[in-house]
Amino acid sequence: METAEIRRRFLAHFERDTTVGAHTAVPSASLLLDDPNLLFVNAGMVPFKPYFLGQETPPYPRATSVQKCVRTPDIEDVGKTTRHGTFFEMCGNFSFGDYFKEGAIRLAWDLVTKPVADGGFGLDESRLYPSVLAGDDEAEALWCRVTGLPPERIIKLGPKENYWSMGVPGPGGPCSELLYDRGPEFGPDFEAATLGPDMPVELEDRLLEIWNLVFMQDELSAVRSKSDFDIAGQLPSRNIDTGMGLERVAFLLQGKQNMYEIDVMFPVIERAMELTGRRYGDDPADDVRFRVVADHVRSSMMLISDGVTPGNEGRGYVLRRLLRRAVRSMRLLGHEDPALPELMPVSRDRMGETYRELHDDWERISRVAFTEEDAFRKTLRSGTQIFDLAATEVKEAGGRSLPGDQAFALHDTYGFPIDLTLEMASEQGLEVDEQGFRELMAEQRARAKADARAKRGQHADTAAYRAVLDAHGPTEWLAYETLETESRALALLREGRPVPALAPGEVGELVLDRTPFYAESGGQAADAGRIELDGGTVLEVVDVQRPVRGLVVHQVRVLEGELPAGATGLHARVDPEWRTGARQAHSGTHVVHAALREVLGPSALQSGSYNRPGYLRLDFGWTSALSPEQVRDIEAVSNQALRADLPVGWQYMTLSEAREWGAIALFGETYDDQKVRVVEIGGPWSRELCGGTHVEHASQIGTVVVTGEASVGSGNRRIEAYTGVEGFAYLARERDVVSELTGLLKAQPDDVVGRVRDMVERLRAVEKELERARLAQLLAGGAALAEAAQDVSGVAVVATRLDGASGGDVRTLATDVRARLGQDRPAVVVLVGAADGKVSVVAATNDAARARGLSANDLVRALGPHVGGRGGGKADLAQGGGTEVGGVDAAVAAVPAEVARALGGA
Ligand code: ALA
Repeated sequence: METAEIRRRFLAHFERDTTVGAHTAVPSASLLLDDPNLLFVNAGMVPFKPYFLGQETPPYPRATSVQKCVRTPDIEDVGKTTRHGTFFEMCGNFSFGDYFKEGAIRLAWDLVTKPVADGGFGLDESRLYPSVLAGDDEAEALWCRVTGLPPERIIKLGPKENYWSMGVPGPGGPCSELLYDRGPEFGPDFEAATLGPDMPVELEDRLLEIWNLVFMQDELSAVRSKSDFDIAGQLPSRNIDTGMGLERVAFLLQGKQNMYEIDVMFPVIERAMELTGRRYGDDPADDVRFRVVADHVRSSMMLISDGVTPGNEGRGYVLRRLLRRAVRSMRLLGHEDPALPELMPVSRDRMGETYRELHDDWERISRVAFTEEDAFRKTLRSGTQIFDLAATEVKEAGGRSLPGDQAFALHDTYGFPIDLTLEMASEQGLEVDEQGFRELMAEQRARAKADARAKRGQHADTAAYRAVLDAHGPTEWLAYETLETESRALALLREGRPVPALAPGEVGELVLDRTPFYAESGGQAADAGRIELDGGTVLEVVDVQRPVRGLVVHQVRVLEGELPAGATGLHARVDPEWRTGARQAHSGTHVVHAALREVLGPSALQSGSYNRPGYLRLDFGWTSALSPEQVRDIEAVSNQALRADLPVGWQYMTLSEAREWGAIALFGETYDDQKVRVVEIGGPWSRELCGGTHVEHASQIGTVVVTGEASVGSGNRRIEAYTGVEGFAYLARERDVVSELTGLLKAQPDDVVGRVRDMVERLRAVEKELERARLAQLLAGGAALAEAAQDVSGVAVVATRLDGASGGDVRTLATDVRARLGQDRPAVVVLVGAADGKVSVVAATNDAARARGLSANDLVRALGPHVGGRGGGKADLAQGGGTEVGGVDAAVAAVPAEVARALGGA
């Protein structure tokens, strides 16, 4: 049965159910939902989380979906087991306070056991084993009653396996799994009744978990591990959240060994076989690589489609790793040419049947992916050079093992994967100090984990805000309507705890019943302003946030008087100047975005933005630097929109209406039936989903002055601009610079550039002249050097260092000094120059010295090791180079001894 058919049957089963009632089919949400605790959506329930927590009223009592998911903690396991995919699709059914355990068990059992001819999956009942959380007698009894299975067939497991949570504070509950016995080839025989509390590892492949039914009833306040968490209390209602792995069921029903061989993934492996000439199934190590390729190509494509671009942190880093691992695996399979242009279209064609946007947005998706591959190939090339150097060094020193810190540096600085280092080392007959490498990696990972923990901590204390929200309901939010309100204090917090009052100078968090303040969101900075209380209390609003949906929290500093917790009669006033600037900047951001797309084409899409009064910046997916002309054009198109005074308007509509309308929905949007706000400038010229505050006409933006464009990580550029008065102020500052320059140079503005260029050229010429003079002086020192010759067993020896002198000069000076020493007695001159990190060693001997067996060539060779160099020449004059400036003094100091040694040996 094709994957598409499994998906269809799943949704139909729940949409058409008449036992508990029809489920609403909800399309998959983006992989990038706005949940600060999650890198990616990793379960079907994520978009529904506010319904489970009772933060929002669900628009339907039951739902079903096939949700795109990405899980990356076990990226290293991909391809090694049968069932670890970084991207996968989770089929789910959900009840929000509607049916509970019995309904969920029956619906799941019916679908998997119903014959294929009747619309089910037709799995053999005798191979199915339900599991329950040990102690959940109710679930156990229900499984027996609903399925007719005897109690011995029910597996009882501990919380590690059968209690499900998001891994962070939030909803959770005991769960039950449906396991499918794949038979004795996949693991030892077992007795269901005696298994538990943990599932033996050796049974993981044999007893394949295909469906997890979560009886979502608890709210967790802390999660330390899968089996160690704190339950804060019951959720407002008892819910159902299930997840059936689409790929897992597909590989069972398609008679395949693992998820990588199913119809939507295997074509990528087939293409990889054609490209590499190797066969899947011939060699276990290669097979893992083929599977990594199939998985990672698909996952990275889906991530890019949802707006991720490669980077060095967070989501971007995950994507970069996936793309690089895919490319590297192809390389290890023997394919050294660009691989993604060959493989990703194959994945697109299979996945595009379900996700149309892969076709529609292919130009952008492919550009992001292919550019990253090009960059990685360059990395591989330079990394290979570094590797070769390191390997040569080890071998020359007679070693057999590449030190761990070198392997780590290759990995960390050049993005050079360790298995590549291992493989290349073994080609050269070397080992790698893997232990040392792993220790350094572990240190780095520990640092990253500590960071992540610190971040998570900040989000964990939303409980205090939640409590305020529960007690008082959402804030009446009037930012679109007014700049001033009369309000009442509902809560006053400091460091997450209620306080009775704030004293002068103190900073705290104030929740009002109603507020005109805009809370930071959608890239727009929070409003500034004041809140006053009759009797002289004045508060400055320093920040405004919405830490939980619906609740606006003002961070205030008491400027005068005191603020009691229950204050009434507060006058909340947004600074009108601030707000005017904020509106100009936010509308300006939309204008620049539209201008950008007009100049660069529609594939230039915003990936992030920030604006505050007078300033905006916009990050967008684009892989090359913009030319000065493009930047100028973007500025010109923006200002034309201002001059045309395009009208600015907004309206609410459903997300699908907004899409039909051509509104740009940036990632992070949820796909529920709530209305979204679409802001348009000049009708279809600019339509974006946006909750910000805007001007009414484009001319009110004043001006848009683009100040720069730069890279912010691979595949992303940033454009910055000033708006309104700040724009004029910026231009005025530039004018001041020009007028200061015209004053200094006594030139007309138009001549300034030419004059400065002349000056720079003259300066360069003068520097060169100075350099020549310095060298002349150096050479003039020849007489002094000759005079200072020391005597080594009757030989006049000159040995000195010359900073700033390079090869030719050192040579000239050496022959000059030798001439000054004459022919009467044996003379040896050794000069060691150091310039620009390079060392030049020159030795010169006269006839009498050579008659005593002294050779310039031998001297240069003997000194080479001090300066990391080699070289030579003839007995009368020899020259060598080196790279270790630090060894110059040692080389100079060694000269008398070398001379003595040569004389002794003669
Ligand atoms: N949310 C549950 C899971 O991810 C169904 O396994």
